[in-house]
Amino acid sequence: MAKPRVLLTRRWPEEVERHAAERFDVTLNESDQPLSQAELAAAMGEFDVICPVVPDKLPAEVINGGNRAKLIANYGVGFEHIDLAAAQAKGVAVTNTPGVLTDATADLALTLILMAARRAGEGEREVRAGRWTGWGPTHLNGASLKGKTLGLVGLGRIGIATAQRARHGFGMRIAYYGRRECTPEVARELEAEFYPDLHELLAASDFVSLHIPGGAETANLIDAVALAAMKPGGYLINTARGGVVDHAALAEALRSGQLAGAGLDVYPAEPKVPEELLGLDNVVLLPHLGSATRETRIAMGERALANVIAWAEGRPLPDRIA
Ligand code: DGY
Repeated sequence: MAKPRVLLTRRWPEEVERHAAERFDVTLNESDQPLSQAELAAAMGEFDVICPVVPDKLPAEVINGGNRAKLIANYGVGFEHIDLAAAQAKGVAVTNTPGVLTDATADLALTLILMAARRAGEGEREVRAGRWTGWGPTHLNGASLKGKTLGLVGLGRIGIATAQRARHGFGMRIAYYGRRECTPEVARELEAEFYPDLHELLAASDFVSLHIPGGAETANLIDAVALAAMKPGGYLINTARGGVVDHAALAEALRSGQLAGAGLDVYPAEPKVPEELLGLDNVVLLPHLGSATRETRIAMGERALANVIAWAEGRPLPDRIA
């Protein structure tokens, strides 16, 4: 019997591509250039399985572009770029890669917290530009983490892993806002305080870190009103999705001093970074590196592949989301 045709829309780590090619009739995107909407739509008619990445957009028009695909195995945990209802209506299953990028993303949230608090981006730019004039008691003083409150918006897997690092590694106090309270075990371990009201959490936190999914439900959740509710001199950290933050309002809060700093890894229209942030010294800007470790990217590929293999063998899909 012919092997199922599987499309990887971008290059994956070599060893996972090899593993995929052993099992399936795999088409690689040798150029690693993002596919157009027309190419993705056509792929729905040419392949049994499409493995997109987070920046690929799969709205209903793309999903309805052809009738062959039976599975969309997303390489990534976030899935707001895929129209799940359209996939479901067409009988196309959708899976993602939960769990395997938790630690890498939490590590990056801490990277941003530290970089913003310790003004690491400013310092690096100063050194590289030859502007550093030497050590001084008032030179680039930032903020300590110990005893400060980290407010997490969303306490799922990545939120918890971020809180664990902050609590046990840096002696921060943990507060969180979410749809529901965490388990008593997690609350006890983190000594975490639950805020049922977002703005109350924002007002109580020195650092706010976002760990909620993107999409219509959370679009611009952190808007001008939310930023004004934050503690004056606070910090905003975003490793979740760019659409959650109103970036014009954020730039204004950074310019006015309402916020001391911000650390961002995600943006609403990547790879475009909101113009108004580029000239601000008190924001750290990273290029969506949350899951970017070799180990994690291999694990993400293997996890996506495990779903394709389960589908090919007629077994239940381990990470089915539609
Ligand atoms: C995801 O998988 O959703 C991440 O954003 C990729 O780093």
